[in-house]
Amino acid sequence: MSTVARVKRKSIPEIRARKGAEPLVCLTAYTTQMARQLDPHVDLLLVGDSLGMVLYGFDSTLPVTLEMMIAHGAAVMRGTERACVIVDLPFGSYQEGPEQAFRSAARVMAETGANGVKLEGGAEMAGTVRFLTQRCIPVCAHVGLMPQAVNAMGGFKATGRSEEEAERVMRDAQAMADAGAFAIVLEGTLEPVAAAITAALPIPTIGIGASPACDGQILVSEDVVGLFSDFTPRFVKRYADLGRQISEAAAAYALDVRARRFPAQEHCFMPKAQARSGGQARSPA
Ligand code: KIV
Repeated sequence: MSTVARVKRKSIPEIRARKGAEPLVCLTAYTTQMARQLDPHVDLLLVGDSLGMVLYGFDSTLPVTLEMMIAHGAAVMRGTERACVIVDLPFGSYQEGPEQAFRSAARVMAETGANGVKLEGGAEMAGTVRFLTQRCIPVCAHVGLMPQAVNAMGGFKATGRSEEEAERVMRDAQAMADAGAFAIVLEGTLEPVAAAITAALPIPTIGIGASPACDGQILVSEDVVGLFSDFTPRFVKRYADLGRQISEAAAAYALDVRARRFPAQEHCFMPKAQARSGGQARSPA
């Protein structure tokens, strides 16, 4: 019998219970290797549909498909053991109605093993969120700036500037909490509005460009480590410059290859006899 203690993955009720407590630390992840690096440090990893822009180079999240989200969701699950993992439902996979949303969410849950799904939308999505949560699919809501609504909104703009906008975001957030969402992402929302929503809701708010008033914070990991340089929004804090390091590594490799410095002796496979007589090269078995 194995004596190795298994690490317990954070559950949806544990995330939900962090309302008003220690801030929730959340980041995005799309691949096994990145997820493995982030897993020990976060409470929640989101397989966001931002992968369409960050990994695939699209100029919005709209072309992202359910198949892409499932493939990346499963990859992130393979790289994690501690973090609660949530997968975005992509544009067009849930807006038709509760049944379509259930079919998409059930595929995500069954084919990735993730803890729950996230979807964008306010009061108009309340029936869909209720339908999912009553059928054992944990839902994280997403209101405020909603990237899937980029065309309807006329761009990626912060919300809550006018009284009317502030009331709409508050109404949307309240509707999502009433419908059974376990948490809510507040994106691009003015601080006083985010603070009022956080004070009013019984579920954690997770802010991105929504001030420290929220119960937790999320950022796109590639923004945090300097790997996505197309555009850095004002609310991002960069903690590393991996883009520059990758470019420097590629330049050094190119110099070595052109000067025949790479591969060196230790990178070559040798016949067994030659390897024994001094060459330290790894030789194939
Ligand atoms: O898709 C995503 O990465 C997101 C976060 C920015 C919250 O929704």
